[in-house]
Amino acid sequence: MTSLQQLAADTAQKFVQSYGRPPRWIVAAPGRVNVIGEHVDYNDGYVLPMAIEHYAVMAADRSADGKTVMQIRDSSGVAPVLVDLSVPVQPGEPKWGNYPRGVIAGFLELGLNPGGLDVLLHSTVPMGGGLSSSAALEVATATLIETVAGKKIDPVTKALLCQKAENDFAGVPCGIMDQFVSVMGRQNHLLLLDCRSRKTELVPMSDASVSLMIINTNVKHELVGGGYAERRQQCEQAAKILGVPALRDATPEMLEHAKGRLSNVVFRRARHAISEIERTVHAAEGVRASNWPTVGQLMYASHASLRDDYEVSCRELDTVVEIAEDIGYKGGIYGCRMTGGGFGGCAVALVKTELVPAITEKIAAEYKKKTKITATIFVSRPAAGATVIKG
Ligand code: GLA
Repeated sequence: MTSLQQLAADTAQKFVQSYGRPPRWIVAAPGRVNVIGEHVDYNDGYVLPMAIEHYAVMAADRSADGKTVMQIRDSSGVAPVLVDLSVPVQPGEPKWGNYPRGVIAGFLELGLNPGGLDVLLHSTVPMGGGLSSSAALEVATATLIETVAGKKIDPVTKALLCQKAENDFAGVPCGIMDQFVSVMGRQNHLLLLDCRSRKTELVPMSDASVSLMIINTNVKHELVGGGYAERRQQCEQAAKILGVPALRDATPEMLEHAKGRLSNVVFRRARHAISEIERTVHAAEGVRASNWPTVGQLMYASHASLRDDYEVSCRELDTVVEIAEDIGYKGGIYGCRMTGGGFGGCAVALVKTELVPAITEKIAAEYKKKTKITATIFVSRPAAGATVIKG
């Protein structure tokens, strides 16, 4: 694993190659993996993600031509983004630029204008893999603007500003989880976030005998946008019929009682959300007590619910979870589930650290055999949220 310092040095180097001078500022924001609490942030529920050791890093300097334009080049060579800071910022082309554009617009509204900048983005968060590459990009942009402007905004305002950028500029009606953990993650801690009160609790996870393994199916399903928005609407509909502000306020008994008034699909969507919120609270207790078998069982149950009731899994993700179940407790796996929005992307497994090499090998081989696809597998310790590396 490349350390963050190394990654920052690489980014500085790429800045020099691109702009012909060294950068004045370097910031980084991590991607995340959600351990449990899936598709419940927009139901006012609890989520339990952690930041991972994969980052969007931005190196920057004042623009060479003195113009009030923020120019962002990407290390992969895709089309650069140019944002004129002297006029109201609008969504536009290239599409990936809408994440930073939305963040810049948010800061301009707060009266914070960073002035013209040359920026080089280098991200190691896999795109479209359900590890919040977009939140990492938003939070890195926000951290850069704070650093350049010499003014920090409070972390909750910062995370919400980034979420708004994604909602309004990228058109994704996401909840608050990804941006919160990219801002507030802490090394060796999971972040228990109450998405209603927005209160956070850092849950220590420093037991080195267990690791979180991330298995990227390397499948991206096209449906994400539409499928995600539809799930949200179904949950809102269920809450309305149940007469509660959000599914956070509903109990399994209330749902059962209202069964006749809900379509089968909406009933199952609500059953997932209500049960997942409860599982997340229990999983946080399990992590606090280092009760890994319990946490693992809750992860498997979460996956089954996402697969059957919420229908956001896919064949490849189900295959990974089946392989994990086959390897089982004896082979060093406590639990496994899809993570993130779904329809492809990554699974997360809670595993015994000493068996990581054997498990990696086994999952890779079985997955390849069953799907003909090569998975990308890695382990990450819970990482720190956004950081200023050179300020
Ligand atoms: C995406 C969204 C999050 C959350 C997850 C599902 O990552 O950005 O807000 O809803 O899906 O848990």
